Amino acid sequence: MRALLLIGVAAIIPSSALAQAKKEIKPIPIAEIKRTDPVIYEKEIEPIFYKKCITCHSGNVKEGRFDISTYEGVIKGGRRGTAVVPGKSMASNLIKLGTKSEKPFMPPRGEEPLSSQELGLIKLWIDQGAKAPTTSGPRKTVVVVGVPPANVSPVRAVAVSPDKTSVAAGRGNQIHLYDAGSGTHIRALFDPGLKTPDGKDVKAAHLSIVESMAWSPDGKYLVSGSFQQISIWDPHTGMLRHKIGGFAHAVVAMTFSLDGKFLGLAGGEPTVEGEIKILDVPSWKQVAEVKNGHSDTVYGICFKPDNKMIATASADKFVKVWEIPSGKFVKSFEGHTHHVLDVGWAADGKLLASAGGDNTVKVWDYDKGEQARTINAHSKQVTRLMFIGKKTEFLTCGGDSQVKAYNATNGGNVRNFAGANDFVYAIGTSPDGAVVAAGGQEGVVRVYNGANGSLLKSLLPPDAQPKQPEKKTEKK
Ligand code: HEC
Repeated sequence: MRALLLIGVAAIIPSSALAQAKKEIKPIPIAEIKRTDPVIYEKEIEPIFYKKCITCHSGNVKEGRFDISTYEGVIKGGRRGTAVVPGKSMASNLIKLGTKSEKPFMPPRGEEPLSSQELGLIKLWIDQGAKAPTTSGPRKTVVVVGVPPANVSPVRAVAVSPDKTSVAAGRGNQIHLYDAGSGTHIRALFDPGLKTPDGKDVKAAHLSIVESMAWSPDGKYLVSGSFQQISIWDPHTGMLRHKIGGFAHAVVAMTFSLDGKFLGLAGGEPTVEGEIKILDVPSWKQVAEVKNGHSDTVYGICFKPDNKMIATASADKFVKVWEIPSGKFVKSFEGHTHHVLDVGWAADGKLLASAGGDNTVKVWDYDKGEQARTINAHSKQVTRLMFIGKKTEFLTCGGDSQVKAYNATNGGNVRNFAGANDFVYAIGTSPDGAVVAAGGQEGVVRVYNGANGSLLKSLLPPDAQPKQPEKKTEKK
């Protein structure tokens, strides 16, 4: 492939700051980094990806089917094949797209481009053979209170225990349990038999990112979902009770029915097929499955309060409703103009609400099968939506760092939960709405008083040290 492909580029992207300055997209020069010691992936490369690429290349959103959140994902590549050719930086898509020498330019316009220095490091890392991280399991993290550095794993899943005493944070491949009142770290959950494919022990809850979590209404079980499997934990002892595998891809959403008798699980391989499974609790046997229900990943799942149906939300832009256990299609709701990232069902069974990659929340009248209203809820994608117990209020969080509560009946913004400074991926609440927790890109979980929105605690990773970050290579 040619290294330069600038034909016709000058005419487009007039709004980009870069184009305005230079009238055309010139490849970003790669800084030459003179050193012979190895580039450390988890210290020097991963933080760049987490800062500039992760929002579009991980978890819910794997653009180009490229997952940059793990080393394995980076090496695996995306739709175009490998992104990294070890030893050959100039033949690697990561460099070709990252320097904007070849399309699609990465990151896309409007996003902060890679700096010459960052490209220099990535180039050197590839030329040194694209070596794997040297630490497995928990990463050493250095945290400044309030302003965590980029190398803290983002929080992708949060759950609040029904009795409001505990909060669980899924942080990278770790799960940390905290006392909700004091904010004290109680324990981390470890899968004792966990090993990398090449046999190394890993001290973590899962090998890959914890993408979803749910606490059973009776408080007995905490379930976590990751790539192709779920784990069922005893949150009181930290013991792993069961591991269930065989999922097509990451399990990105899960929810218990209000009566705790069923666990709904969702995921599926992006752009291939959505996966929807219902398990019985506590036998964890599969009692229902919807096949070919969606043509893309299912990001949201919730039960109708009478447990006779489920609603699902998918990257294919649809919200659909299914009868269980038959899996029979009931109806669909169309209106979102981008991925639908979550769905919730009000306790009266009459209203559904869905969270869109189009920044809106749509409220649907179930019986009429129509859209009741659109709420311009966030200024970036709405990543999660959750009804609060038996209320008609629901919580949302988004890429705009906001966590909010809305009333489904009139669309009013009831409350805001401030404090996040970056993408929020996950929310959780106690069934009465008294304790709300949210976490995201910063790696911090914030615990709020659900009644008035005041911030009660910020939960940092247990190994976080309130000291200055190490000197690191700064972008210029
Ligand atoms: C705002 C969203 C966004 C951000 C941020 C972003 N990307 Fe992308 N990326 C995309 C989209 C969309 C595609 C698919 C484009 C296509 O297939 O035409 C893509 C595709 C890619 C691909 C090609 C995958 C394949 O095999 O098809 C690579 C490599 C890539 N991105 C690297 C990066 C890197 C490195 C960064 C960070 C420096 C980054 N991206 C940041 C949206 C993004």
